[in-house]
Formats: sequence, structure tokens, C-alpha cells
Amino acid sequence: MGNGGDGVTPTVLEEMARPTERVLSVQGGRRLHGEVGISGSKNASLPIFVATLLAEQGQTRLLGVPQISDVEVLCDIFRGLGAKVSWRGDVIDIDTTTLTNHNVEQELGQKLRASTYLFGALLARTGQAKVPYPGGDRIGSRPIDFHIAGLRAMGAEVYTEGGFLVGSGRLQEASIYLERPSVGATIHLMMAATLGRDTVTTIANCAMEPEVIDVARFLSAMGAKIYGAGTKTLKIMAVKRLHAATYEVIPDRLEAGTFLMAAGQTNGRIAVSGVIPEHLTAVIAKLRQMGVTVDIFGDAIEARNEGGMLRATDVMAEEYPGFPTDLQPCIAALLASARGDSLVTDLVWADRFQYVDELLRMGGQIKVAGSGVRIQGVPRLTAAEVCANDIRGGAALVLAALRAEGTTRIYGMHHLDRGYAGLIEKLVELGADIEEDVV
Ligand code: EPU
Repeated sequence: MGNGGDGVTPTVLEEMARPTERVLSVQGGRRLHGEVGISGSKNASLPIFVATLLAEQGQTRLLGVPQISDVEVLCDIFRGLGAKVSWRGDVIDIDTTTLTNHNVEQELGQKLRASTYLFGALLARTGQAKVPYPGGDRIGSRPIDFHIAGLRAMGAEVYTEGGFLVGSGRLQEASIYLERPSVGATIHLMMAATLGRDTVTTIANCAMEPEVIDVARFLSAMGAKIYGAGTKTLKIMAVKRLHAATYEVIPDRLEAGTFLMAAGQTNGRIAVSGVIPEHLTAVIAKLRQMGVTVDIFGDAIEARNEGGMLRATDVMAEEYPGFPTDLQPCIAALLASARGDSLVTDLVWADRFQYVDELLRMGGQIKVAGSGVRIQGVPRLTAAEVCANDIRGGAALVLAALRAEGTTRIYGMHHLDRGYAGLIEKLVELGADIEEDVV
């Protein structure tokens, strides 16, 4: 993001131009303490929701679905496809037996990345699909060539027309190699390969993220035959029909990681409950290196910072079980006011540094260098007017603001709403001084 001549970024202007815009005022310097319950995983819930399209019988009940705007958009898309959806708290009931349509509306489909999954699911279920090119976060170029190549290898005809991805054909057996272990392509192709007549599909060099395993578990609960989830090679034996199932989504390791970092950042003490600690191994290791004390008690993790300033460390974001790219901006925000110099590299998204210009406004000493950022820790960050450009960049700004001197104003809150369920309410419960107003 570039700087505007008057010191206001074009993005801030763009955000301000929205008819109504929620703005956060975060007063830095409060110690956060207490326990926080973690919501269900966004990146597992979205594909699991889409996978319900494959059920020809029954009504699916999903438990632990986070209350985020991406899920709201999916509900609207499903209603447009003729499915019945009802959502109460963290439970969603979905009946896709009434499907009447295989075209996803452009305005809705463009709003989220996960709409890509609709393509393969609709193709597998109906033999036809028309889905707008996906939207999602501004974190650099997000190609879907692996998805398209995989579906073509499975015999689908796929082409682009007027901003839509259009496809037809009955999916056949295939042996697919992913050039990179893409989370989205692994989930998408696995889902598409579940339905068919005696076909066996293999996907090599798969992603091994917990969210991939969770989708495989849900598909298995629907009657799919999937082998090797969580390893580098998946084998899917197609079945003629899948049925509805009741399923609870895994907790969101990224939300949990954000709160553990908030404890480190505010000299606080926070326990996250209802989590799977193993999913956070890399994050816990980094926090400990930075001087945060982290203890695990069953399905809870407590982080506390009694030492004040954190220590600098290098971080390399990569595929699971490495440090998650989705927490790369957050840890950079912590390192911005740590003691010493750090290098944070992102091997997944080489351009995911849109938050850097915003941290500079807060007095951070950070420079983008190739696919990483060099951070010179400063003793204090200072409040400024900043703008979130994506979900995780937004969370990074909230973390920076919690430590900064003064009141930071954060625009672009709708990005956070897409991925975090009640983040601000939860932070306030823990003692943060945050107010929201609409401008
Ligand atoms: N890639 C390709 N071609 C493809 C697909 C991916 O070149 O067809 C490249 C990407 O450009 C990227 C790498 O492969 O460099 C990995 O991308 P991946 O496909 O794994 O990402 P994704 O499925 O689009 C999901 C999450 C992201 C998360 C990444 C990596 C969802 C909805 N999104 O995206 O989450 O960063 O995996 O873990 O599950 C977020 O939650 O904020 C978020 C952006």
C-alpha cells in the first residue's frame, strides 16, 4: 500500500468512503488477563459447510461454526442454490437435498475465497458448476491453477467466461500431483473426488494442515472413503452417494494463537480453552523463545509475560507443522516492540506485508525485504490512525495497538469480522480498553 501525499493512505480513504464504517479506538497499555473460549475454525468450517452440498439425503448439523461474516455469505449463497439453512449460535442446520441451481451469484461468490470450493462440490454433485472467480483477502496474488488443473485431470471441462469459472462433466479417476502443498487445492480436489463410480483418485504432495484433516473427517462421516489425511498422499475411493452427518468443527488454532500473543504483548496472562494444543506447537515454541511462559493443561493453554519487553527472534512462516502464515502479521506486530532485531519470512504468501506501512505509522522500524520483513524492535509504539487490509493484518494492528502509547484508531474492521468471531468483545472481557464507533 502506498502513502498518499497528505499522509493518508488511499486505503484509509477508500475505507472512509464506505457509507458506514466501524472504527475501533484502542487505548494501549492495559494488561489482559483471564480465560477465553476459542471458536470453531474458520478455515475448516467454510469447506465443511460447502461439502454438505455433496449430501443427497438428510439434513446436516454442524456444531462449533464461528459467527463470522464469511459464514453469513455462505448461508446466502446456499439459499440461492436452493438449499435450506438455519443458523443459531454456533450450530448450523443445512439441507441440500432441495438443490435447484448450480450457478453461484457473482456478488456473493466474489466476497470470499472459500467460494472456490463450491465449484468442485457442485460439479461432483450435479455435473455442472458456474462460480465467480473467488475473492478474499488482499494478501497478494492468489492463483487457482492447481485447482483447475486437478479438476481437468479428473476429466472436467473447465473454462473462464465473464469472470466466472464454468465447468461440466462427470469426474473420473485421476492421479494428481500438486506443485505445492496447497491447502485449498487439497481440500477442493479431495471433496470433488468423493463421488463417482468405482474411481480411485490419488493426490500427491498434499497439504497436511489440521483443517484438511478436519474436512476429510467430515467427508468420512458423510460416507466418503478417504485414506491418508494428514500425510503427503491422499487416496480417495469414490462412492455413489454421500449422506448428511452431524459434525463438530475443530477449534480455531489461529484465533487461539492471536490470544496467546495478546498475553505476551500486554504483559498479561491469558488462558485459551477448548483448543487442540498440538495444532499450536510452532506458535508456542516461538512465544517461549520470545520470553513468554506457556503452559498446557489438557485442552487449555495459558500464556503469561512477566518479563516486560519480549525478545527478538527470527520466524519463518511455512506449511503445517511450520509456523502458520496466518499468524505471521501478528508475530511481526509483537516483534516490532521486542528487544533486538528479527527477520520474519513468509514462504507461503510472499507479499503478505500490507500491514507494514501501518506499523510504520505507529513508530515501528520495519522494512520489507524480498519475501520477508526486517524488524528493528523499538522500546515503544505510538498510537496512530491505521487501516486493516485483511483479516490477519487487522489482527496484527489490534495487537500493536494494545501495547502502543495512546489511542490507536483502526479502520477496516469488516476484514476482522470475516475471520474472527467476537474478537473485540473477547478482548474487552480480558480487560482491553476498546471502543467502537460508526463513522
Ligand atoms: N497456489 C498456487 N496455485 C493454486 C493454489 C495455491 O500457486 O492453485 C499457491 C499460493 O499462491 C500460495 C500457496 O500456493 O503461495 C499456498 O496457497 P494455499 O492454496 O495453501 O492457500 P489457500 O487455500 O488459498 C488457505 C487459507 C488461508 C491460508 C492458506 C495457507 C482458507 C479459506 N484460506 O488459503 O487463510 O493463509 O490456506 O495456509 O482456508 C486466512 O485465514 O486469513 C487466510 C488467508
